[in-house]
Amino acid sequence: MEERIAKIRAAMEEYFGEDRRRISHALRVTEFAGQLLTHEPGDRELVLATALLHDIGIREAERKFGSSAGNLQEQEGPPVAREMLSRLGYDEPFIAEVCAIIASHHSPGEVESDNFRVIWDADWLVNLGDECDLTDQANAQRLMEKTFMTATGRRIAEETYCSGQKG
Ligand SMILES: [Fe+2]
Repeated sequence: MEERIAKIRAAMEEYFGEDRRRISHALRVTEFAGQLLTHEPGDRELVLATALLHDIGIREAERKFGSSAGNLQEQEGPPVAREMLSRLGYDEPFIAEVCAIIASHHSPGEVESDNFRVIWDADWLVNLGDECDLTDQANAQRLMEKTFMTATGRRIAEETYCSGQKG
């Protein structure tokens, strides 16, 4: 399996090319997804594949619409992911599930599955640090309470972004 995941990673890196920021985001989300899966249920290969490809629609969204808005990424990502995964020999049920998660990864509630919850939390573990102001600890705590879908996601967020003391 690790070899197949490495091939998806290589395809993603080749696709994003010079865009180191996107590659690094995908790899950080994949890293957190792997960590979450040590405590949360989910199909490891499917989750890691989805984590690597979750934002793959960004390039087409920017090329066609000059925007990386979440809904455009959701719309443009699945065909790109589908092409990559079928080239790598994945079967239809696997591809369909990856694409369904990519198509709603900014839209909680559309897909309810263990695999979705892990992707959601992994993406937020990265985005929280990159995009949210966490200097106010009480505010950070509240944000974490409502953002994460798994207990492990919340715990990792607290360990990563809160300065030790709780309560
Ligand atoms: Fe993301």
